[in-house]
Amino acid sequence: MIVRITMSAEKQKELTETLADWEFDEGLIRRINDQEIEMDIISSQMPALLDILSGISNDSAPFRHIPEQFMKKDITIAISNMKDKEEKEMAEINMENLVEAKIDVFAKFNKQLAVVTAGDMDNFNSMTIGWGMMGNIWGHPGSALTIYVSPDRHTYKFLEENDYFTVSFFPESHKKDVIVLGRTSGRDGNKIEQTTLTPKALTHGVGFEEAELTFVCKKIYSHQFELEKTPEHMAKIYESLTPHVEYIGYIEDVNGIVE
Ligand SMILES: Cc1cc2nc3c(=O)[nH]c(=O)nc-3n(C[C@H](O)[C@H](O)[C@H](O)COP(=O)(O)O)c2cc1C
Repeated sequence: MIVRITMSAEKQKELTETLADWEFDEGLIRRINDQEIEMDIISSQMPALLDILSGISNDSAPFRHIPEQFMKKDITIAISNMKDKEEKEMAEINMENLVEAKIDVFAKFNKQLAVVTAGDMDNFNSMTIGWGMMGNIWGHPGSALTIYVSPDRHTYKFLEENDYFTVSFFPESHKKDVIVLGRTSGRDGNKIEQTTLTPKALTHGVGFEEAELTFVCKKIYSHQFELEKTPEHMAKIYESLTPHVEYIGYIEDVNGIVE
């Protein structure tokens, strides 16, 4: 797809420099004039491009999305041509289209690192999760999301003390940050400061500017795995780790972009 980006010449220069660290090939940029450039990208690169441009923009609000355009005060991205008709388009996801949205639930937790956060802007903790489920339960009109957190995690205390948790999925460009959240503990200091992530208040709880997709979940049930009922291959792991607690949350809010 071809995107036409309107921004100052100074920001065009910043973009060229930033692209060097990303998977984008600099040669993709075609300069139209002092205020406009064009890039030929594939639709799956769109979230990364939005991330890069968010970093360059002086406007801290998220991109406003209207059909075929993403806008900030100083940057506008217009999708001017879908080059390959087979390509999937990115679509904004919200509570109205959540059930119809094409969320690849199996790949989401398997391939794309997720982060659970509990608490509020004054006091929260985040950690990486590899286990998660999305679906329906108990006749809730929307959908539910389940996570599994060991009581040994600092985040556990926050999950127990708060009614909501959020689950954020990040683009590949933030893989390093997600790994930090999964290798260090909030018990030992502020681990967000070791990342490039920007926490932000959501309808309930805390998410991140850089997340591609974020679910706000109301905790409705929790239960700890019973050792005698867990599969054999987990016995060794649970010799040194307190068995996980599952938290089922009703999804009350969602924002982000999906294919
Ligand atoms: C890829 C990855 C996936 C993880 N998945 C889980 C998980 O699903 N549940 C869990 O309890 N811990 C999981 N962890 C471990 C926690 O993220 C890790 O122990 C973290 O440091 C806990 O942080 P905290 O003490 O600040 O809560 C995972 C770690 C990584 C790197």
